[in-house]
Amino acid sequence: MTELILPNARALVIHQDADQMASAVSQRIAQIITQAQRARGICKIALAGGSTPRRCYLDLCGLPIDWRYVHVYFGDERCLPIGDLERNDTMTTDALLSHVAIPVENIHTIPAELGPEAAAARYSQLIAQIKPLDLVLLGMGEDGHTASLFPGNPALQSIENVVGVFNAPKPPPERVTLGMAILNAAHNKLFLVSGEGKRAALKAIARGEPLPASEVREAVWHIDRKAIPE
Ligand code: 6PG
Repeated sequence: MTELILPNARALVIHQDADQMASAVSQRIAQIITQAQRARGICKIALAGGSTPRRCYLDLCGLPIDWRYVHVYFGDERCLPIGDLERNDTMTTDALLSHVAIPVENIHTIPAELGPEAAAARYSQLIAQIKPLDLVLLGMGEDGHTASLFPGNPALQSIENVVGVFNAPKPPPERVTLGMAILNAAHNKLFLVSGEGKRAALKAIARGEPLPASEVREAVWHIDRKAIPE
């Protein structure tokens, strides 16, 4: 592919490899946190799940960030017991939150162990009080989903702040996710996309297919070379 153009994107940043992307994005996150703290006193950031962001979170641990004034939320969560290794908050705690001086009361996990509907109702009340977010970090699945907003799933059409998800094609089937409106209302949206597995979805989005990830408007897409369609 000569040049990748993603509709709705604010910018694309192509990185040599996943490590270089993680390092660059962690520095950009630190910059956004500092800017938000200067402007509003605190930074409200929603972390992404999955595996791609892990390196970025590890890099973030070493950057000069005043975590006392950072509030962490989650883009989505899997409906599994607290502490389950497959939960997104388990991964983010292991890679980042247990290594930085963030007050425990600043970590706002999604109570996904309650099940999709109860968790979404509770988290929706919290998000209603704090929106808009300063930064939403997002991954993209091989089918073009983002957070837990999957192609053809009713959750994608919801106007709610937070939505319960059923029958997700990526296990587990039950999840909780920020709604598209909350993602789009954030001041900053950063995608991290890495690996050959994402080529087809990026190609489809470049062709104009309305996949969930492409419905996030004005995002900065950080993509490593392996994910660039040929
Ligand atoms: C999840 C994530 C999901 C993830 C993408 C990409 O709970 O699975 O929120 O949206 O970001 O599926 O996952 P990878 O980074 O592992 O490819």
